[in-house]
Amino acid sequence: MTRAAVVCGLGGAVPATAISNSALAAQLDTTDTWIRTRTGIRRRYVIAPGEATSDLAVAAGRRALNSARRTAADPQVEHRTTDADLVVLATSTPDRPCPATAPAVAHRLGLSGAAAFDVGAVCTGFLYALATAASMITAGAAHRALVIGADTFSTILDPADRTTRAIFGDGAGAVVLRAGTTDEPGALLGFDLGSDGSGEELITVRAGGSRQRSTATPPPVGDEFFAMEGRSVFTKAVLNMSTSAHTLLDRIGWARPDLDRLVAHQANLRILRAVGEQLGLTDDQLVVNLDRVGNTVAASVPLALADAALDGTLRPGDRVLLTGFGGGLTWGSAALRWPDALQVEAVPGMADAL
Ligand code: UT7
Repeated sequence: MTRAAVVCGLGGAVPATAISNSALAAQLDTTDTWIRTRTGIRRRYVIAPGEATSDLAVAAGRRALNSARRTAADPQVEHRTTDADLVVLATSTPDRPCPATAPAVAHRLGLSGAAAFDVGAVCTGFLYALATAASMITAGAAHRALVIGADTFSTILDPADRTTRAIFGDGAGAVVLRAGTTDEPGALLGFDLGSDGSGEELITVRAGGSRQRSTATPPPVGDEFFAMEGRSVFTKAVLNMSTSAHTLLDRIGWARPDLDRLVAHQANLRILRAVGEQLGLTDDQLVVNLDRVGNTVAASVPLALADAALDGTLRPGDRVLLTGFGGGLTWGSAALRWPDALQVEAVPGMADAL
């Protein structure tokens, strides 16, 4: 048997304030119909003034740790001395440019002393963080890891940009990984990760880093905001998520018909359907929650997992493929058999009727 990282806890969090398409249409030149038909999104959440990414990360992380404690199948629960000795936070909207946000999140969760760092791969961030944490566990460098994806893009969007404001929402999702073996349900069976930096300009915040410094004169108008070339990103998202998913399926020896569920980055319903089609999946095999939360960037995949675990879409033993695409450009996929008896707490607000 081969050592592997096993998913044993899962949780999510969204802010208290939900914004419907019609509420957005009252502020910007857009309509509920345009947003629904072009993206499938009907609602997104935004943090309140004074709130930050770490607040959502802590809320999701706490639910994931509680979930791990309650998951009876976790043989280490009785004997654990600590909930996690590693915290990896995927985010592109850290609380501050320096230091990383993960150590503060770990501290607030009572995990001071754990290794803690941020991973930046935008919408693919959670998959990169998951691969990093799983690899540290299989290498023996960590025993239990809390992997969080959290973003608050409402803090970097151009208030006048109807396209990005329609799509992006704030949120966080988290999983707990423990050391186990590949034959156990919940074991992560493989990863595929990739990047293409020639597409750096397609999804970006130009100002505030070392090239356009925050300490220099004010940046050119608009450069402090997030910018995306939607159409070009759309085609690259479909191509790279499908290719990455196929690569991973081949690598781990799963045939296309063996796949039960696809949990893809929740960017756009048309993108999800196109990727599903490339993999020969029906619409009901696609996990979709973007209608209720929008594109939550690094939180997207774990929030979709939490939603699907709670409503029973993900069943024990299901062969599940995760895939994502985002700024960098970056992409990645992971595969697992859904764990038995995973106890997941409801995410307040997320399942509310639209
Ligand atoms: O998370 C990282 C990965 N991100 C993605 O995967 C996002 C990928 N891209 C997309 O999902 C889509 O490209 C968008 C949703 C961003 C845009 O949809 P689209 O169908 O590609 O629209 P478009 O950009 O080609 O624009 C079509 C029209 C334009 O008007 P004209 O030039 O035809 O007159 C836009 O100005 O739709 C207009 N438009 C809007 N109209 C009403 C763009 N945004 C809006 C809006 N409301 N919110």
